[in-house]
Amino acid sequence: SDIYRAGIGGAKPVVPVEPAVLERFARKAMSAEAFAYVAGGAGSEHTMAANRAAFDRWQVWPRPLRDVSERDLSVEFLGATRPTPLILAPLGVMEMVHRDADIAVARAAASLGLPSVLSNQASVAMEQVVDAAPAGPRMFQLYWSSSDELNASLLQRAEQLGCEAVVITLDTHLLGWRTRDLDLGYLPFTRGLGIAQYTSDPVFAGLVRERAATGGPAASVRITPKTIAAGVSIARKGAALTGTGLRESLRSPLPRAAVETFLDVFSTPAIAWEDIARAREWTKLPIILKGIVHPDDAIRALDAGADGIWISNHGGRQIDRSVPTLEVLPTIADRIAGRVPIVFDSGVRSGADAAIALALGATEVALGRPYAYGLAIAGEEGVAAVIRHVLAELDISLGLAGLTAVADLDRGALREVVAAP
Ligand code: FNR
Repeated sequence: SDIYRAGIGGAKPVVPVEPAVLERFARKAMSAEAFAYVAGGAGSEHTMAANRAAFDRWQVWPRPLRDVSERDLSVEFLGATRPTPLILAPLGVMEMVHRDADIAVARAAASLGLPSVLSNQASVAMEQVVDAAPAGPRMFQLYWSSSDELNASLLQRAEQLGCEAVVITLDTHLLGWRTRDLDLGYLPFTRGLGIAQYTSDPVFAGLVRERAATGGPAASVRITPKTIAAGVSIARKGAALTGTGLRESLRSPLPRAAVETFLDVFSTPAIAWEDIARAREWTKLPIILKGIVHPDDAIRALDAGADGIWISNHGGRQIDRSVPTLEVLPTIADRIAGRVPIVFDSGVRSGADAAIALALGATEVALGRPYAYGLAIAGEEGVAAVIRHVLAELDISLGLAGLTAVADLDRGALREVVAAP
């Protein structure tokens, strides 16, 4: 309500409130490459559009005269009461968006009591993020590597840092066909961005050395004029993309070997259900499987011992013409029947959107691009502002629907739009 009051009191918000305006402002604050990477989706972006369109099928059904003066946004998630049903989804390569990257995101989330998810493709090593932002619940998101040792090491680091759960992302065993990035001749990862979790990992360091010893591209790690030139070139591109100075970027030019090794071990198309059982052996942390969109897979996830599922199509970044997440949420929620929590994302842009997803069965709603836009415009404060806007609108929508608690949001609060025959 402070935002609402500030709004009608004439104070200007830190970042634009309207999602499309937010995106427009963010575009101006970013390099063309950074904006393409964040805003883009797979192919001709049909999935991205379908994610949004799916919300048009549902309307919040207002019920006045129910005394909603006290409202409660809290939810139960992984055995704890959370002040709000919002999570910040893991976003990699945030150094392209703002120099404070993951640290700004973690601080903003913690300041509002939201769990944040440390991305496997983060720009800052998880230990550094926790140092800089010690408060707040957090999770670690893992892309299943072709190296078992690396998977186990990353999970162990997350556990040692006090992460409350691990999120295994299942929809990126092949990187999507990202047309905007491809047209700019750019793949962030081949420039050595977003690989801080690897370069801070002892197992990864061993893999780079091994690659060098077997004469792979890592052999060129020897310092010669050529490798120095290659290092400068990577640093220069990195500096241009991240908006940092070349000198700053040069301080830690990544050896090409590290980039090559990363490309080898980042995610593997060989991941299969059996691997989830192995992850179960490697960590005591609750496991949440992200990227579930088929009801049968939701059940399979339960059978595999998952402690939660995360319905997502990666914000439409993986398959063009994929299934829009909101359309499958009700069926999956029915099949799960409350046995484990359901996180929902892809296409949520506002508090009203969040209300619809919660009413259709999500336990928690995750936000992706909107907070990256806040980060681009105003760093930590911008991320916090985006979160506050979504929460304020959710709170208002709840009250106007005649409800006093998020826990009471169900399909009874919605009207389904039935297309004319
Ligand atoms: C992502 N996403 C993502 N997911 C993940 O598991 N690990 C990651 O490192 C990333 N990185 C990433 C970067 C960027 C720039 C975007 C936009 C997305 C997917 C993310 O967690 C989430 O599923 C979507 O962003 C949700 O969709 P919306 O809210 O962006 O529509």
